[in-house]
Amino acid sequence: TPCFPSPSPPCQPLSHEGAFTLRLLQTTTFQNTSFTDTEGLGLLEDIELGFLEKHTWSIHFCQPWVRPALPHADWETIHNLLKVYLQKFEHLINEEAMQRDVPYPFVVQCTAGCVLYPNRTSQAFCIRGLQWPGFPQLDTENVTWTLSQDTKLSRYVQSFLQNYTALNELVEILFNDTCADELEVILQYGKPALERQELPVATVFARTPSLDQLLLVCHVTGFYPRPISVAWLRDGQEVPPGPALNTSTILPNADLTYQLRSVLAVVPHDGHSYVCRVRHQSLGTRSLLIPWGRCHPWG
Ligand SMILES: *[C@@H]1O[C@H](CO)[C@@H](O)[C@H](O)[C@H]1NC(C)=O
Ligand SMILES: *[C@@H]1O[C@H](CO)[C@@H](O)[C@H](O)[C@H]1NC(C)=O
Ligand SMILES: *[C@@H]1O[C@H](CO)[C@@H](O)[C@H](O)[C@H]1NC(C)=O
Ligand SMILES: *[C@@H]1O[C@H](CO)[C@@H](O)[C@H](O)[C@H]1NC(C)=O
Ligand SMILES: *[C@@H]1O[C@H](CO)[C@@H](O)[C@H](O)[C@H]1NC(C)=O
Ligand SMILES: *[C@@H]1O[C@H](CO)[C@@H](O)[C@H](O)[C@H]1NC(C)=O
Repeated sequence: TPCFPSPSPPCQPLSHEGAFTLRLLQTTTFQNTSFTDTEGLGLLEDIELGFLEKHTWSIHFCQPWVRPALPHADWETIHNLLKVYLQKFEHLINEEAMQRDVPYPFVVQCTAGCVLYPNRTSQAFCIRGLQWPGFPQLDTENVTWTLSQDTKLSRYVQSFLQNYTALNELVEILFNDTCADELEVILQYGKPALERQELPVATVFARTPSLDQLLLVCHVTGFYPRPISVAWLRDGQEVPPGPALNTSTILPNADLTYQLRSVLAVVPHDGHSYVCRVRHQSLGTRSLLIPWGRCHPWG
């Protein structure tokens, strides 16, 4: 998703060791003038805290520790403002789309949240329409919507948002201190989930796409948290990056663990030994070493 150049606050906080990010994502699909679908998601780092039920707009919590972490009074207010916001948002965008003959269907995405740094300072980041660069940006310092593109439509939407008190109240509550305060509480409740460690499970197998090439595949799955190091050792030496080595991106599993694979192209019967080495936080200083061998597959 594109992030257009902007003054502070940034659209996405810089990732920072020991920092925690609370993020709200909204995706609204406008099927036609009378049919709209909004999906909402709250994330703490990569942990799904809750989501918006599609048609009722009630909030479903995904972790048992989220609801107790939220103060009851604030929560009711936020939830009500959220419903009003969603209604007005859909209405506003529909009205504009009709006036301007924007072809249906189309999708609008917004994100908002805050980040808490290890030094206990926090920073809110903007509400931003991710797919329409003209969507005004929110200045969270003084709750002011600023233009990111100076077009008639942008100016209209800016004026609308600025006049739109319920939204600005919600924003002020969320961004003044609430986001950082609640993030601190949520972090206390969510500590076990954030500190969860799952051991990687690695398997090595070979594929032969042609007679003169052997692809050694090291498949690593089931690990959490996300950072991991996977390398191939040839006769005990780490194989450097190069055209023979191909490591996939880290992909999520359904159970909030991750997987990836590293593929090394070799010449069959080249007389070398090959071992896949995995390092991960859950292993401590240990490494997982999985040798490839036709005769002794498990080394
Ligand atoms: C709008 O889309 C919905 C869902 O696709 C459909 O059921 C409905 O008939 C459509 N309405 C109009 C006016 O096109
Ligand atoms: C806290 O840490 C963040 C991230 O490193 C930094 O941007 C900010 O200036 C720090 N604030 C203070 C008061 O040290
Ligand atoms: C809000 O802050 C922005 C930048 O920080 C500034 O350009 C703008 O003039 C401020 N608006 C008000 C009403 O203070
Ligand atoms: C916002 O309020 C101002 C002042 O009351 C008004 O002139 C303007 O038309 C309003 N904008 C929208 C989009 O309603
Ligand atoms: C937000 O913070 C400002 C300055 O600290 C304060 O004047 C204002 O009352 C706060 N608003 C809310 C809704 O807490
Ligand atoms: C790496 O793997 C990807 C996905 O399987 C493939 O598209 C790409 O061609 C591979 N690159 C090399 C250098 O083998």
